[in-house]
Amino acid sequence: MTGNVRPENMARITDKKLADAFIEEQIKELRAQIGDGKVLLALSGGVDSSVVAALLIKAIGKQLVCVHVNHGLLRKGEPEQVVEVFRNQMNANLIYVDAVDRFLNKLENVSDPEKKRKIIGAEFIRVFEEEARKLEGIKFLAQGTIYPDILESDGVKSHHNVGGLPEDLDFELVEPIKLLFKDEVRVVGKALGLPDGMVYRQPFPGPGLGVRCTGAITRDRLEALREADAILRDEFAKNGLAKKVWQYFTVIPDFKSTGVKDGKRSFDWPVVIRAVNTKDAMTATVEEIPYEILNKITNRILSEVKGVNRVLYDLSPKPSATIEWE
Ligand code: XMP
Repeated sequence: MTGNVRPENMARITDKKLADAFIEEQIKELRAQIGDGKVLLALSGGVDSSVVAALLIKAIGKQLVCVHVNHGLLRKGEPEQVVEVFRNQMNANLIYVDAVDRFLNKLENVSDPEKKRKIIGAEFIRVFEEEARKLEGIKFLAQGTIYPDILESDGVKSHHNVGGLPEDLDFELVEPIKLLFKDEVRVVGKALGLPDGMVYRQPFPGPGLGVRCTGAITRDRLEALREADAILRDEFAKNGLAKKVWQYFTVIPDFKSTGVKDGKRSFDWPVVIRAVNTKDAMTATVEEIPYEILNKITNRILSEVKGVNRVLYDLSPKPSATIEWE
């Protein structure tokens, strides 16, 4: 796609027919741009990078090299899904990098939210750079930039894009969805055959669970958070809330409170449920989850997640609160 301005006459992609036409056109453009060159893509498994990967696999097959960095802050089942969908089902050239220890060691004892973000961003670039250097003949770097990222160029996306690579790795950019809005990316993803779990995924911050495990991240608290989040997502899916609510997740604060367990006093963590609706993420309102569902989620978290003795529901709109806790 050339140019950074969406032409006024560009039709909004709202159905499969329009998506198929877009895909056909992109395949032609991508082949013309790339020729027999090799393309590198950081594949997080989020909607945007997944759609770019699927488009490129269609256009150039094994000339695409995807790198999936597991930084240990992904949700339960995500790294496995990336491998299953892209390597096993789509037969992509996928390098899976287990960088969990690297990230968690770097984050040890770091409690300042901005420092945590910086460490995660910088380490991500370092891991990706190392992988890029191991490969030969890469000429292009594909990115899942979308139109809102261009419109708000200081946007949140900068946190998980791989801008910031050293100058000697000066790849030519390939950005096939840069003129699309999010809803269009989803329609294209569906037409490309990506699973619903990927296409309709809620927004997930680049630093992942790192901003929801407040303060200094510890492995046991992170694991409790990941389990609680999986329970929340499971119950939202079962109760028809997953597609209705814009963003929903759990948070685990870095303090403990008293409880009782097996007749004795315990001292364990709370888990906070957050579920919000918004149009642009600048303001947000709280979803009114039916009480029975809240109750079911609470009981499951308390009985299934080790180290947790309380469940709280965050009733704060944005403003005054932000959507994330850090
Ligand atoms: P806040 O917490 O500022 O979040 O109300 C607004 C939206 O942005 C997402 N978010 C991030 N996304 N890197 C990202 O890629 C980040 O560091 C980050 N912080 C917040 C958040 O999930 C919400 O959708």
